Amino acid sequence: MTEASVARAKVTENVNPEKSQQAARELEPERAQPAVKIKARNIDFFYGTKQVLYGISAEIRERKITALIGPSGCGKTTFLRTVNRMYETVKNARAEGELLLDTESVFDLALPNLRRRVGMVFQKPNPFPKSIFENVAYGPRVHGLANGVRLVELVEQSLRGAALWDEVKDSLNKSAFSLSGGQQQRLSIARALAIDPEVLLLDEPCSALDPISTAKIEELLFTIEGRCTLVIVTHNMAQAARVADYTGFFLMGKLVEFNDTKTIFTNPAKKETEDYITGRFG
Ligand SMILES: Nc1ncnc2c1ncn2[C@@H]1O[C@H](COP(=O)(O)OP(=O)(O)O)[C@@H](O)[C@H]1O
Ligand SMILES: [Mg+2]
Repeated sequence: MTEASVARAKVTENVNPEKSQQAARELEPERAQPAVKIKARNIDFFYGTKQVLYGISAEIRERKITALIGPSGCGKTTFLRTVNRMYETVKNARAEGELLLDTESVFDLALPNLRRRVGMVFQKPNPFPKSIFENVAYGPRVHGLANGVRLVELVEQSLRGAALWDEVKDSLNKSAFSLSGGQQQRLSIARALAIDPEVLLLDEPCSALDPISTAKIEELLFTIEGRCTLVIVTHNMAQAARVADYTGFFLMGKLVEFNDTKTIFTNPAKKETEDYITGRFG
């Protein structure tokens, strides 16, 4: 076995066999593919005069988990921030190309509508300086989705969805800052789920967490998967192999390869993808 094939075998041990078979089955007949939830066509992105994304085209499948991998600085966060137009707060930042959410252009949607439909979880948990309850209730209140008893139910349901309920049900009025890092990150997920988004973008959500918290988050992604479309940026290739149905590999602002996870990790079409997943650079 060559050095590359040993390294590849290591990563592919982690490819979740059930998921891969499922993805493979779905990839066989064209009609069996899940619907396209987000369609990017020829996205270029600029910070001022500096171009950081080049002609990104991808189809993100509905109610599936898509992982985006690639070395630091290759544009993964920028791509996520394009999908919910988070980049608009950066001066002179601009995106060009076509980006559809279902059939509507993301660039034409009213921002509150887009943010309601596309939630985001960041690398570092960022609870508000409020109680656990208020952190989750905030979104539904702002969007006028629920109040009174219905709001209490929605908070519980969201905390359950983020696998946090059992740990916090007796301390909902405590400050969110009293939670551990892993719990705060699940709280961020509960907060995002509370407004029932169609898409949830997760930007390296486990990078600051210990292995046990990471495992809890990976586990809960499977339970969320049935209700919304997930796009997760991860530095951890074993994580991508474990959780994702589809994987995209970014390099220097380009989407080098995008395919079902098993193909990316066992039979990549591009040499750069193979070099990255076998740990030659990164
Ligand atoms: N606010 C910004 N202003 C200027 N350049 C930026 C800004 N944010 C990111 N960049 C640059 O854009 C490129 C892509 O960054 P990013 O999307 O954060 O990559 P990744 O998430 O893959 O590490 C990098 O060269 C980075 O330095
Ligand atoms: Mg990033």
